[in-house]
Order: sequence, then C-alpha cells, then structure tokens
Amino acid sequence: MPGTCVVGLQWGDEAKGKLVDILTERHEIVVRYQGGANAGHTVVSGGQTWKLSLIPSGILRDGVTCVVTGGVVLDPANVLKELDGLESRGVRIGSKLKLSDRAHVVFPWHMLEDKVLDGSVSGGEAIGTTGRGIGPCYRDKVGRSLAIRLGDLYRDDFSERFAHVLSFKQRLLESVAPGEGSMLDGERILAEYRGYAERLKPYVADTTAYLLDAVEAGSKLLFEGAQGALLDIDHGTFPYVTSSNSSGVGVASGSGVPGRWIERVIGVVKAYSTRVGGGPLPTEQDNAIGMHLRERGREYGTVTMRPRRCGWFDAVAARYTARLSGVDELAVMLLDVLAGLPEVKICSAYEIDGRRVTQFPSHVDDLRRAVPVYETLPGWQADIDGVTRFDDLPKEARGYVARLGEVIGRPVSIVSVGPDRAQTIFCR
Ligand code: IMP
Repeated sequence: MPGTCVVGLQWGDEAKGKLVDILTERHEIVVRYQGGANAGHTVVSGGQTWKLSLIPSGILRDGVTCVVTGGVVLDPANVLKELDGLESRGVRIGSKLKLSDRAHVVFPWHMLEDKVLDGSVSGGEAIGTTGRGIGPCYRDKVGRSLAIRLGDLYRDDFSERFAHVLSFKQRLLESVAPGEGSMLDGERILAEYRGYAERLKPYVADTTAYLLDAVEAGSKLLFEGAQGALLDIDHGTFPYVTSSNSSGVGVASGSGVPGRWIERVIGVVKAYSTRVGGGPLPTEQDNAIGMHLRERGREYGTVTMRPRRCGWFDAVAARYTARLSGVDELAVMLLDVLAGLPEVKICSAYEIDGRRVTQFPSHVDDLRRAVPVYETLPGWQADIDGVTRFDDLPKEARGYVARLGEVIGRPVSIVSVGPDRAQTIFCR
C-alpha cells in the first residue's frame, strides 16, 4: 500500500514540517488534506529557512508533486504570496503543484467574521483564532448556500454567485458590527479575485481523481496533516479547536483517498506540550519551567507570532490521539529543549473531582477541572543537539523517550534534537 501519513498528536506546532521534509525524499506526491493559512511550517533545507503555510514543503524538491485537496480552505492571495516567495528564491513551480477545484475559497468577509464573531464562547474565553477566516469559510462550506469553491471562480455565473453572497454578507456583518459590512467593496474584491483566479488557473485540477489514479497506480503518497489532533473539530477539545479534521481521520474526507491506502501513520509529538489560543491545557506551566520551554523551544506562533503556552508532556491526551489517528509509531520532536532542567515530568493520568482518570475527557469543562498526575523522571544537563545516535543520548534522555513510548503505547522510531535535517535520530 502506497500511503504514509504524518499527524500531530497535540495542539499543533509539533514540528511536523521537518519530518515531512525528510520523508518527502521517499515519496512522489505530498498531500495537504485540511486546514488553511492558519497553519505554518518551517523547514530548514540546504542551509536556508523556508516558512510555508498552505503549500507543502515538498515543493522544494524536484520530482515531487504537491497536492492541496478539497478538504482545505484556500486564501488565494496567501497562496500567490507563497508562490511568489518561492519563485523569487529560485524554486520552479511548473506542474509540481495541484490545487483542488473543490477547495473552498476564503474571502475578505471571512476574515471580518473571524474578527467580530470569535469573541467569546460560553464561559467567556475566546477561541483565539488565527484570524485567517478559517472557521467562517468552513461554516459556509457546511452551510452550502454562501460557499464558493475554487472551481466556481471559472464558471460563467461566478459574478452572480459573488453578488448573491456579498449582499448577504454585507447585511450579516452590518447587523452584528455596524460599519463592518459597508467596508466590503464588492467591485474591488471581485476584480481582485478574478486576477487571482487567472494566476492560479494553471494549478487548478480535480485532485480527487488525480490522487485515486495515483494510489491505484502504486505511487508513493505522503499525507501531511496541519495543526494537531487535539484541535480536531469532531474529536478535539471542542469548541477550542480548529474547523477541520486535523487528526488522522481527516485524510479520507479531505483528500478523497480511502484510509485503506495508508500503510504507515507516524504520530508526531513534541517532548512537552504547547498550545496557542484559548482552551484548557492541563499541564500548563505558567512559571520558570514554562519560560524555559518557550525560550529554548522558540515557542512563538509561526503565523501570528503569539507566545505559545507551554507545559509538561500530557500522555493522557497523546495516548488518546495516537489511538484516534491509528498511529503505528512515534516521532518525538524538540527533545533538546528539555536539556538543563533538573527533572522532567510526564502526565500519565488526571484527577477529576477526586477520581483518577486515564481516558481523555470528551467535554472541555471536565478537562478544565483535570489535575495532572505526574511521573517525575531525572533530567539531563548536557546539550544533545549534536547527538546523532540514540545510544549516545544521556541515559536520562533515553529513559524519558522510552517512557513516553510506553505511556502512549506506541514505539518511538524518530527523535529530533534540533531544526536541521542532520539533527534527527532514527531509532529503528
Ligand atoms: P483557527 O484555525 O484560526 O480558527 O483557530 C482555532 C484554534 O486553533 C485557535 O486556538 C488557534 O490558535 C488554533 N490553531 C489554528 N491553527 C494552528 C496551528 O497551525 N498551530 C497551532 N494552533 C493552531
């Protein structure tokens, strides 16, 4: 079977980009199956740093086709900015990129809706979205009557469809935030989107058909998830989630390729926890430990530059998402960040209302009350960013990784000790 899937098991930012870059070498097609410009991935390749959002990092390699599927919400201005950035640094795009005609298009009203409606959900805490119009665009997709897909931009009735959606959005925005709706200049937006459509035309394709042909022909596909499984709309910490299936379950619905074609699922975890935006993070360390993790791990959002909330590794959560995503093996990223701490902790259970729980709660309010039960392990002082063999890691670091694998219930096959490709340890 030809498919490998890389999926984040936490709240995103697990350094999946680096792993995808390494695995791309052994695949012909890289597939982005959900999310949008809310995600960002950083890849260090050939001594250069690349920051990409929607375009898979496979674009940096010859002989790899990158596919952005219909499960994605696509902001054309953003995609073109990425493409221009790549081309200005000598990357040839040509036929290496395919954008699904089924992908839903992000319009300026989606960004405005994010701004005026994200406010607060019950309990008063805002979701803290990236403000990229992701949720509002997916809302229109599910609602259907106000949705515009990439393929629609090339249809004869696009102007009428646009006018219908615009007039509704203007009224909606005016009613909730007077002054916002009238800021939408229909003529200007229409002209802009016609321009985007023209420039994107060479890349637009029926990617579902393309991918089904590819798997049936035995091509090697790499599915790249954005965000992490705990932000999954159905299975994450709802409502503090993103609006797509960011766990492994999203592969089939987002790409149109049935799960039976995937033979290897790699669950990616950071050696500790981070979260950006609202919602509970049971192991959060709002103290010197959190500062250590944020500063050593450079834990600031790639897209929004917000400081990430940091804490100890949450194995209750990761065990749940590893099962949910059908994970075969684990990649433990950013292990180097823990160096210098006297001791390291793993949360292996919660206490909720005095009861010990090892199953991840389905309701966010229960998760809010969860008090972590920690296992404490000895830390290590030496920097490990130059280590290339598992056996050369300090015994405490080896013990920590081994324990992570045990509590999550999956073998660790890759350990990362720095952003460079060379700073990767293959354990088996
Ligand atoms: P949205 O996806 O912009 O609607 O944001 C919803 C929630 O998901 C917010 O808490 C965001 O901070 C979070 N989020 C979205 N994309 C990412 C990501 O790539 N990494 C980490 N958190 C993300």
